[in-house]
Amino acid sequence: MSFSTDQSVIISGVGSYAPPRILTNVELSQMVETSDEWIRTRTGIRERRIAGPEESTSDLAAKAAAEALRDSGLTAGDIGLLVIGTVTPDMPFPNTACFVQQKLGLGKIPSFDVEAACSGFLYTMEIARSLMLVNGYKHALVIGAEKLSSITNWEDRTTCVLFGDGAGAVVLSLVDEPDIGIIRTIMGADGTEANILCVPGGGSASPSTVETIERSMHYIHMQGNQVFKIAVRVMCQSALDILEKAGLAAEDVALVIPHQANNRIIEALAQRLGIGMERFKINLDRYGNTSAASIPIALDEAWRNGRIRSGDLVLFVAFGGGLTWAASLVKWH
Ligand SMILES: CC(C)(COP(=O)(O)OP(=O)(O)OC[C@H]1O[C@@H](n2cnc3c(N)ncnc32)[C@H](O)[C@@H]1OP(=O)(O)O)[C@@H](O)C(=O)NCCC(=O)NCCS
Repeated sequence: MSFSTDQSVIISGVGSYAPPRILTNVELSQMVETSDEWIRTRTGIRERRIAGPEESTSDLAAKAAAEALRDSGLTAGDIGLLVIGTVTPDMPFPNTACFVQQKLGLGKIPSFDVEAACSGFLYTMEIARSLMLVNGYKHALVIGAEKLSSITNWEDRTTCVLFGDGAGAVVLSLVDEPDIGIIRTIMGADGTEANILCVPGGGSASPSTVETIERSMHYIHMQGNQVFKIAVRVMCQSALDILEKAGLAAEDVALVIPHQANNRIIEALAQRLGIGMERFKINLDRYGNTSAASIPIALDEAWRNGRIRSGDLVLFVAFGGGLTWAASLVKWH
């Protein structure tokens, strides 16, 4: 969707933060019945980062956002809007963005969270872009941040090997130039599959009680096989759809930054698009699946390692609980 033909929203700064504590597959194999070999061959993950007990999602988010601000050359006073994608808010309310606003010393700007699970960063970026074009905010902070270790059942080998903690952030800036930056985004959701990946307890449907806790309902529950099949389908479809809508071809894409859930899902996407794996940014081996943080952490690494140049077309594609999906095409300024 485009509101004006002579303005665009560009990514003017990128940053990320991952807690220093590394949890390896070997350590996990001492906690549950699994092995480094099983985790690596089924997912591609070797290790993940785990936040300390004193670190909340807003702490991770604030550190990533401070990096992005530095990278953009702007200061806290320049930011007019703050949006965070997360499924692990510090508290049910107030929203995590309000804590981040305070930690970064931002102005009294609109600050809110978006909950679209692993598609959260792309949903968030599109909401911020739209608000900037409609309301004229010059600069916005968009963050994906998760402390998934706080909702992971460390006794369930089918889920605990997959997830990690971290945060990534971008500064978005409004520019008086057409067709640059975020040139198109598509988003979708299929609520009929809501129950195959969820945290069933602790919300208004099943408020926390001794019983919900005893039944581990406050942790991630997932039908891995089902999620896998749908993920491959919607990731491929979203990528093909956005290219078609933008009138572009897979060959035009310089770099694909997919949600980092599973190597096999990304390989299927590469095959379907006919794009070699060398044009994919992959770092899930070191972070696992960090949900809304996964794409901006990968973007930050790609940017810092010189994998993105001016004029490059970057394709982002994600899927997650909901089930939600999204894709964005960014023409780097
Ligand atoms: C979770 C996932 C890696 C499992 O891989 P899979 O090939 O589908 O494996 P299955 O679930 O069929 O399980 C195969 C066997 O391995 C076992 N297994 C599951 N987790 C295991 C682990 N960590 N270590 C060892 N064995 C494990 C299962 O119990 C099952 O054993 P069984 O055949 O005796 O019943 C895969 O389904 C996946 O990645 N799904 C998508 C998850 C995802 O991306 N979620 C986030 C979405 S944003």
